[in-house]
Amino acid sequence: MNILIIGGGGREHAIAQSLLKDSRVKKLWCAPGNGGIAEIAECLPYKATDIEGIVAFCKENHPDLVVVAPDDPLALGMVDALEAIGVRAFGPRKNAAVIEGSKAFAKDLMQKYNIPTAKYRVFDDLDAAKEYIKTEGAPIVIKADGLALGKGVTVAATVEEALAAAENALSGHVFGQAGDRVVIEECLTGPEVSVLCFTDGKTILPMVSAQDHKRAYDNDEGPNTGGMGVVSPNKYYTEAIGMRCMREIFRPTMEAMVAEGRPFKGVLYFGLMLTPNGPKVIEYNARFGDPETQAVLPRLQTSLLTIMEAIIDETLADVTICWSKEATACVVAASGGYPGKYPTGFAISGLEEAAKDAIVCHAGTKCVDGTLVTSGGRVLSVTVKGYNLDAALEKAYDSLKKISFDGMFFRSDIGRR
Ligand code: AMP
Ligand code: GLY
Repeated sequence: MNILIIGGGGREHAIAQSLLKDSRVKKLWCAPGNGGIAEIAECLPYKATDIEGIVAFCKENHPDLVVVAPDDPLALGMVDALEAIGVRAFGPRKNAAVIEGSKAFAKDLMQKYNIPTAKYRVFDDLDAAKEYIKTEGAPIVIKADGLALGKGVTVAATVEEALAAAENALSGHVFGQAGDRVVIEECLTGPEVSVLCFTDGKTILPMVSAQDHKRAYDNDEGPNTGGMGVVSPNKYYTEAIGMRCMREIFRPTMEAMVAEGRPFKGVLYFGLMLTPNGPKVIEYNARFGDPETQAVLPRLQTSLLTIMEAIIDETLADVTICWSKEATACVVAASGGYPGKYPTGFAISGLEEAAKDAIVCHAGTKCVDGTLVTSGGRVLSVTVKGYNLDAALEKAYDSLKKISFDGMFFRSDIGRR
């Protein structure tokens, strides 16, 4: 089979590596891909959001499957556009991807169907938002409604900070259109868990749990990032909690989307907080998480291709999915300055040595005149499996330390919380 993957980050590299374990996969394309993906797939010069370009490519090259991995092409309707020309596409249609694309939609869905989440209100008027913040007091959370590159959330410790965040979004337009509406919600506490689920709209099968590390620096300090490292499983997510989430959150969400006429097919990602009052949804994503995927897929023992095909055919109930009992640790190496401004173009060394004992996924890399150089904020990640988390972590850091580039930094406390 010939498969096209849309996207160009560490997640897409991990998806490509996982698909290649199935001997039916003969050829991979990736649009746009990156320096590491180029070693296992043919990279195409299309942006992930270039629906027109990708549709034209598919008409010419007839891929057997297109995997749409990132949030923005999903929200723009790439799956719908591919289906319209008869191409099999993995991922939710536009009317289902809205579960990530609009936080107001997600919150209203949870309220309507009694899915546990933080108490909230939606505002497009600044004065009304300010009034609500003053009444509720701090801490309080302000979220831009739309996709804001993971930067749309402010967990405000003071009323002043909350008022400033609402003002930035609603009148400063710092998130563009994404911030024309804001969700203001109660601040929850407790360990966070990421659970990615395969679903075809009829059956929902959770993957093994994961713990992301969103802050840039050790001890959860510094600004929020796209994710600096992940361990799987998440030690807070017990079997009993998993069963409760299935009953109160996962299945009800799948059924709610069907009831709304928006059946969700693909990977539905639940960002959960395990509060003293039970697990609650912090966010939904309509896709594989990044870097969760880099830690979760190496534990998958069933063919990812088989699962993706079953989801498209709505026969997921017939598939048994097996997971390795081993733990995984994934640590991200980032460019100095990330998530703010950072220079790029630095040569990366030590990759071959590191890859002997670890799975290396590239995110911000490209190949220039035969040399691999940095080209993004999150540059790459290393993932290692171990018989337990400590073993995996030790080996992951050993491997990561073989890699170097100017300005490289990483968190040294992944999985230690
Ligand atoms: P998001 O961009 O939706 O993933 O949110 C980023 C981070 O903000 C989450 O991972 C949480 O750590 C935090 N957060 C979001 N909503 C809440 C909330 N209601 N209470 C406490 N923390 C939150
Ligand atoms: N790691 C969080 C996300 O993919 O949104």
